[in-house]
Amino acid sequence: MSGGGDDGRGVHVKSSGRDSATLAGARVVVNAGPTYEDIDPVRFLGNRSSGKMGFAIAEAASLAGAEVTLVAGPVALATPAKVVLRVDVRSALQMRDAVLEAVRGADIFIATAAVADWRVAEYSSHKIKKGTRGARALELVENPDILAEVAALDPRPFVVGFAAETERVAERARKKLERKKLDMLVANLVDEHVGIGADDNAVELFWPGGSEALPRASKLEIANALVARIAGRFRAGRHA
Ligand code: C5P
Repeated sequence: MSGGGDDGRGVHVKSSGRDSATLAGARVVVNAGPTYEDIDPVRFLGNRSSGKMGFAIAEAASLAGAEVTLVAGPVALATPAKVVLRVDVRSALQMRDAVLEAVRGADIFIATAAVADWRVAEYSSHKIKKGTRGARALELVENPDILAEVAALDPRPFVVGFAAETERVAERARKKLERKKLDMLVANLVDEHVGIGADDNAVELFWPGGSEALPRASKLEIANALVARIAGRFRAGRHA
């Protein structure tokens, strides 16, 4: 990509080279990390997301000139230097409220968070004792799909989703792109070397009408490449 221009939404997006499309003036919201769903005061349901990929993307987008809001689940990571606002949350419901607030007027939403699919139907304010009836079969309810909710907003930002798959990546990615009405989907193959919790990642990008594989690299390198591709598609417009 080269040249620069106005994307029609009042945001001037510049680029100076093939991989260096920048996001000057764009408002970007990134969510990252896991969510923890509390069961009682000492226990929770969680997952192994480290938040590294999302934080790297927040960093890459800020370095590309975007005004970034980072909505973070429980992670042990420092806020990237140029990120304008970080909102820390714990549960999926808290993350949903923070994201819906942050995306108002935003240009791009990048959903890297590993949102828990379920939460317990009823939180116990006392520690559940061994042998309690019902403790062996916790009742779960589904959490809202934050990404799908943002994609359903009108007007809505340019929406980028992530999908961790262990098999049939392309087929599932295409279905998810359509079902959740996304502008772009980043699929990563999860194994013991790449993906969740690891330092490296290997991803494949999908958008309506196209795809591109980004081979294994550090999460920071992948993040820079992704931000360049997102900026390019955002500038080209959803229907280009
Ligand atoms: O359907 P699946 O969980 O694989 O979709 C993953 C994508 O959807 C990620 O971008 C994730 O952040 C988002 N997601 C969400 N809310 C959920 C579940 C997933 O925003 N409850």
